[in-house]
Amino acid sequence: MIASGHARGLFKRRLLAWYDREKRDMPWRKSKDPYHILLSEFMLQQTQVQTVIPYFERFISTFPTVKDLADADLDDVLRLWEGLGYYTRARNLHKAAAAISDDFNERVPDTLAQLLSLPGFGPYTSAAVASIAFQKPHAVLDGNVIRVLSRIGCVQEETNRPQVKTTLQTAADDLLNAKRPGDHNQAMMELGATICKPRQALCEQCPVRPHCLAEQRGLVAEIPRKTK
Ligand code: ADE
Repeated sequence: MIASGHARGLFKRRLLAWYDREKRDMPWRKSKDPYHILLSEFMLQQTQVQTVIPYFERFISTFPTVKDLADADLDDVLRLWEGLGYYTRARNLHKAAAAISDDFNERVPDTLAQLLSLPGFGPYTSAAVASIAFQKPHAVLDGNVIRVLSRIGCVQEETNRPQVKTTLQTAADDLLNAKRPGDHNQAMMELGATICKPRQALCEQCPVRPHCLAEQRGLVAEIPRKTK
């Protein structure tokens, strides 16, 4: 995606310097508790940050630990989730808390393979928790990151094709900052959410603009392409 090691190094430094300067305040970013990070990533899967914040706060005050969540009635969990939608997430979250309590001694596991074994943990959530909570070098690929990377590399193929996804995952892994993988992943997602937006991207404000092939070719508005 970015051909030279030198340019990749610059990209990583520019991205993290921007994140350190501009990152938005989010309650889970003040926490090092893996349970808080897990909870936030479950909520953020299909819901925007501003909506998630009050739900997150209510959840951790009602269920301060994984064990409290595991022991709760599903109905109480679902009631607290009301308004966030996609209730499968809440059911899986409850099941995952039970699995963490029973199989992992009430500790959120810290390897990608163990995280992937938990209910509701796909590649995205597992990589997010591994990197943000445990500083493990796994790159996340969500909709925001797909948009950023496909523009950086001026990828004109439809990004929802499995082959293209695989290429983008490889690109994401190559660009990952292994010293601060959690911050790097959050910076990529934040860049997609606030600057490299689906419509009317703010390229003048983009910290990695010099690396962006779509911008150089005037194709930002056309990328990512998707099949109908
Ligand atoms: N979207 C999902 N998780 C996120 C995070 N930790 N920071 C910013 N955006 C996100």
